[in-house]
Amino acid sequence: MARTSIVIDRDFTIGDVPRRLFGSFVEHMGRCVYTGIYEPGHPEADERGFRRDVLALVKELGPTVVRYPGGNFVSGYLWEDGVGPVEDRPRRLDGAWHTIETNAFGLHEFVEWAREADVEVMEAVNLGTRGVEEARALVEYANHPGGTYWSDLRRRNGAAEPFDIRLWCLGNELDGPWQIGHKTAHEYGRLAQETAKAMRFVDPTIELVAVGSSNRQMPTFGSWEHTVLTHAYDEVDYVSMHAYYQEHDGDAASFLAEAVDMDEFIEGVVSTIDAVRAAGKHRKRVDISFDEWNVWYQHGLETDDQPHLVSRQWREHPRLIEDTYNVTDAVVVGTFLHSLLRHGDRVRIANQAQLVNVIAPIRSEEGGPAWRQTIFWPFARIAEHARGRILRLAVDAPRVPTAKFGDVPAVDAAATWDEETGRVAVFVANRSLDESHEAVVDLRGLSVTGVRSAEMIRVPDDGDRRTANTQAEPDRVGLVPVEVQLEDDGCRIPLPPISWAVVVLDVERA
Ligand code: AHR
Repeated sequence: MARTSIVIDRDFTIGDVPRRLFGSFVEHMGRCVYTGIYEPGHPEADERGFRRDVLALVKELGPTVVRYPGGNFVSGYLWEDGVGPVEDRPRRLDGAWHTIETNAFGLHEFVEWAREADVEVMEAVNLGTRGVEEARALVEYANHPGGTYWSDLRRRNGAAEPFDIRLWCLGNELDGPWQIGHKTAHEYGRLAQETAKAMRFVDPTIELVAVGSSNRQMPTFGSWEHTVLTHAYDEVDYVSMHAYYQEHDGDAASFLAEAVDMDEFIEGVVSTIDAVRAAGKHRKRVDISFDEWNVWYQHGLETDDQPHLVSRQWREHPRLIEDTYNVTDAVVVGTFLHSLLRHGDRVRIANQAQLVNVIAPIRSEEGGPAWRQTIFWPFARIAEHARGRILRLAVDAPRVPTAKFGDVPAVDAAATWDEETGRVAVFVANRSLDESHEAVVDLRGLSVTGVRSAEMIRVPDDGDRRTANTQAEPDRVGLVPVEVQLEDDGCRIPLPPISWAVVVLDVERA
């Protein structure tokens, strides 16, 4: 068995754990809202149409903040369509996903659902087809107490108290030609600057996210962020990042190492932000909102898997990109969360895309059950246990070859220390396809008094790394116990090939 040394010193920290790192995303896309979180008439629906079974899984998953209502959808969305008496709301064509939007679910419903789910709302405004006026009206509607046109309309629509939404996205992926209202960096930078200013005139306490590149492969990546921030640095608090990954042509080794790409992508955006900061002599620091990330098998989009996008038949809540995730995907998702934690000093918000059905950790069927996908587990455990401070690790791991990244460390890890509860949480993945590893964790400045929990996700005994949970077998893949060997100042964690483990240790200051 190969050995990896992980040295953890309680005094070497990256910063506090930003709890908004464990965010998710609800878009009006496919069946995320309709027959996902909301399905009036379902046996599990409450009187508002919220599915209780899905809500229970969301609470177990533990997202802290949920972005809404898009995504590409928001770039053609009229938010006023989704407020007021449901019977008066218009049915519209959503051009982003070629779908009929009934508007039965809108802002009030989402805010109520978010309260029920105990998550913060992160609201996106439409800067595709709309601009400054509609965005500032929405802030007034949502956050102003009353006595004005928009705030009184909210009150008449049943919400006497403001929604008090702090986090706002200034549009979505406007660098992408596929986006309704696609813009150049100059056009978007000026619009973001003026919209941010006007929104802040209504509510100075809000936090604003400017649109960054849709992915690292965009031809404008880097120059987009630079130009947008040159215009809007003073007005915004975050720049967004989006990234989706998938296994290509059975190259599991490269896929398992994609957190290397995520690390480099984040570090590239940080460099660009800081270059604008230095050149502009800004004192304020802009951070990152990684508000879309996940595994997404994009090969079938708009072809055989998505016939409605081709046949142009307008339908309500069609099945869209309902990826089924396997054990390998779960290990990769674990390493993405490690990458986000490693950069938690600058990535202050992150949202896994999306929450239910659409490339999601939770699946549900119309009139039927809801279940956890494999990727549910690393998210749920890291969201639960990553608390206190992020520790800066010294990892010395044997390397494994990959076609995409060359040799990479076989073992990838992150850890946090919560002094209040006296717990260190170690998250660790073995990316090797065929070799078992032992992670030897050496704690400095802390002594271990016990193991609180130790679980892992791994390839089942039949050796099929593509094993997944399905409606027929919803619990095929779950967390299993790990035999952790305790030592005076640490522990040893056995890691079979393609596995992800979470070990929570009880510790005290040494
Ligand atoms: O999450 C699915 C889609 O991916 C979002 O609508 C868009 O922002 C991104 O391209």
